[in-house]
Amino acid sequence: MLDIASKFKMTGAYIDGQWVKASSGKSFAVLNPANSEHLADVADCTKADALNAVAAAKTAFKMWSGKTAKQRCDILRKWNDLILANVDQLGALLSKEQGKPLAEAKGEITYGASYIEWFAEEARRAYGDVIPASRPNTQIVVMKQPVGVVAAITPWNFPNAMIARKVAPALAAGCTIVIKPAPETPLSALALAVLAEEAGIPKGVINILPTTQTSDVGDVLTTHPDIAKVSFTGSTNVGRHIMRNGADTVKRLSLELGGNAPFIVFDDADLDAAVEGALNSKFRNSGQTCVCANRLYIQAGIYDQFAAAFAKKVETLKVGDAFDEGVTQGPLINQNAMTKVEELVGDALEKGASAIVGAQRHELGGLYYAPTVLRDVPLNARVLKEEIFGPVAPLIKFEMEEDVIALANDSEFGLAGYFFARDIGRVWRVAAALECGIVGVNEGVTSAVEAPFGGVKQSGLGREGSHYGLDDYLDIKYVLMGGLGH
Ligand code: SIN
Repeated sequence: MLDIASKFKMTGAYIDGQWVKASSGKSFAVLNPANSEHLADVADCTKADALNAVAAAKTAFKMWSGKTAKQRCDILRKWNDLILANVDQLGALLSKEQGKPLAEAKGEITYGASYIEWFAEEARRAYGDVIPASRPNTQIVVMKQPVGVVAAITPWNFPNAMIARKVAPALAAGCTIVIKPAPETPLSALALAVLAEEAGIPKGVINILPTTQTSDVGDVLTTHPDIAKVSFTGSTNVGRHIMRNGADTVKRLSLELGGNAPFIVFDDADLDAAVEGALNSKFRNSGQTCVCANRLYIQAGIYDQFAAAFAKKVETLKVGDAFDEGVTQGPLINQNAMTKVEELVGDALEKGASAIVGAQRHELGGLYYAPTVLRDVPLNARVLKEEIFGPVAPLIKFEMEEDVIALANDSEFGLAGYFFARDIGRVWRVAAALECGIVGVNEGVTSAVEAPFGGVKQSGLGREGSHYGLDDYLDIKYVLMGGLGH
């Protein structure tokens, strides 16, 4: 197994360009979810540390926003290059703290870096406008300016990419940032700061606060008057809390919240492609992404065939340690996740679903859950209403297109949705009818830096990635220039 270089084993908080202990002197343990291996004791930041980080980011804002877009672009590009040059080390570190298979972890590092490269380029295209004015001797000028200091609160399922997706547009726009990574996975965040420093990102521009005091530190970051914007990826419940916290200071918000993705297979679909798509969508990161297929609706004419072919594939998925050859399924992140998955499967079985694969803890023990396929899941099962965040695929039979659209849209969430069909009229109709921010047609994985990622309904606000992603970090200023006549 690759030995991770000591420079990537940072345990301090990163505030104002310094690696510091928590003001309380306390630290917390980071464990490998695959085997409980103790990886590090990391600074457990407090409110006081959060206040220091906000002050540092505020001071740095004047200097960083004053740089030219080209200067910021050059530094971000260098950061991207350093990340890519260290993909093996960063991937191994990510696998250790998060549990995902090494190949998937390295894929995440490349995916994360793609946001840094993309927004380095976009930094130079934060164009304004000149609008024809109706008053004589005037010009209407629209300029875009960085919103200010940003707080980023990021999840454990993508410990690198979800940070990169926020920090890159923020820095490209000229903002500075304070990041609170998930307590389960702070090491990947800190390793990114090591390379940010090496790339020449000045002190105070990026600050990282590992902590288990999530509500104390989170409350500072979401209420402080010097924080202009909060960008959060996580649950809808916490998103609601952040909206309430931000109300008094009218914070700009980007919220990437929960999902409950429908995955629909119509009778006319290419069966092999649909099975492959379902596998990729459902079992990416062991089902722990907010765009994973959460409920699979299969049309009656193809239902049995799909269930058999899909179950056969799921049986072959290899579960195990991130560093073992051929493993594609890692552990769940913690005991709470295991309890939730067990409860949802138990509830579905009790209500009449049948298990065709799995539906139990994996024989490896610990936090491993067996990849699972449930069929004939009744519509009142919790597993169809709640985000599973685990390797469980519930199948539901449907008859008519209009029925499945109604079922798919019967959710407070609206992040991703997928369907497989060949009829062009149906493809257009269903793509338009699904109440989701992201739709995969004959594709099970949609994420890409060029594409806007984000949800509708209670799945959130704003878009990450793509050319839209920069706007979330820019304010529009309208300047009316008068007195231009002789
Ligand atoms: C997420 O699960 O939050 C992000 C998934 C992705 O970027 O594909």
